[in-house]
Amino acid sequence: LRFLQKQKKQSKPAKFNRMRSIVFKDPSTGPELKESPIPEVAPGNVLVNIKYAGLNHLDLWTWKGGELEQPVISGSDGYGIVTATGEGADSNWIGKEVIINPSMDWGDDPAVYGDSYKILGNPDNGCFAEYVSVPAAYVYQKPAYLSGMEAAGMPMPALTAYRALFTKAGLKQNDKVLITGIGGGAALHLLQMANAIGATVHVTSSSESKIQKAIGLGAEKGYNYKTGSWIEEAKKQGGFDVIIDSAGGNGFAALTEVANNGARIVLFGKTAGDINGLKPGIIFNKQLHIMGSVMGTPQEFEAMLNFYEAHQIRPVIDSIYPLEKFAEAAAYMASGKQFGKIIFSVE
Ligand SMILES: NC(=O)c1ccc[n+]([C@@H]2O[C@H](COP(=O)([O-])OP(=O)(O)OC[C@H]3O[C@@H](n4cnc5c(N)ncnc54)[C@H](OP(=O)(O)O)[C@@H]3O)[C@@H](O)[C@H]2O)c1
Repeated sequence: LRFLQKQKKQSKPAKFNRMRSIVFKDPSTGPELKESPIPEVAPGNVLVNIKYAGLNHLDLWTWKGGELEQPVISGSDGYGIVTATGEGADSNWIGKEVIINPSMDWGDDPAVYGDSYKILGNPDNGCFAEYVSVPAAYVYQKPAYLSGMEAAGMPMPALTAYRALFTKAGLKQNDKVLITGIGGGAALHLLQMANAIGATVHVTSSSESKIQKAIGLGAEKGYNYKTGSWIEEAKKQGGFDVIIDSAGGNGFAALTEVANNGARIVLFGKTAGDINGLKPGIIFNKQLHIMGSVMGTPQEFEAMLNFYEAHQIRPVIDSIYPLEKFAEAAAYMASGKQFGKIIFSVE
């Protein structure tokens, strides 16, 4: 509500060398629509004129989290057109439609990111602005089959889903996989990827209509995680070889119950908070593999793009908000009513 009140007082500036941007520093004031200077293009960087930007739950965590050392333009996911290149960057990028890999400076170990790892949007200025300057190594041509809006809904959730499903869980065609909270932006990428290789996909959701939509997208069956009976129902269906969860919380213990012997469970989010009630006996007797995962490496980003192209996967878009309505979009995401990605139009 505080964000909404503030937003009403702010106008839409469009002055020379200035740009509209969503700037965050302090959780007590929250994100603010502000004029910022159009960034200088650093050596090795490209300047991207952002057309669409994807909202992720990470943005909400950042806005609710601790105070930052300095104001930063939020936003990890963006699609736009390269308008300038810095010294040493290939000038052929100019005019190209690109998406940005926000998973930066991963480091040398593909198993876990190193000390320099950062996600675009904190501490570096991100995509909730008319322009962003990013290292040329992190821009990729927009897949031609996607609209700009769809492309903006891809980088973070698709990369995260790719690593969780394939690198971590090693999903195979004959696996039966459960994806929790299917309304989420990342969850739908998981569904579409698992579907693409022919795995059997079941989902959970708080909403019957979202379950029906997921079935429309290729899921075989869905369970309402708000009901206590879903665990028995899922067990009757034969349990799961792979489970991908981004909620955590008290519901996580149920996932070990519906897991088959030797199942791989991957967790990459904390939407429902800390985990309680895990039974050690279930974990060791079933010999479960419980793994954490974060975003992915540049190699995984490229593999994800190739996979999407090969299977012509289109990110599911829930809604488009003008950048100025960032607070409404954030409140909508916090309500959990969405089915798919929430996108900002930056034009
Ligand atoms: N580690 C990483 O690299 C990484 C990358 C991306 C995202 N994440 C994290 O993953 C989570 C999802 O991100 P997102 O951007 O996809 O968020 P999102 O679009 O806001 O996802 C929200 C969805 O979470 C589901 N959900 C809420 N409470 C749940 C519960 N108790 N049990 C099961 N599902 C529940 C809801 O599904 P229904 O509406 O169907 O009930 C809701 O639609 C966030 O915690 C985010 O920070 C982590």
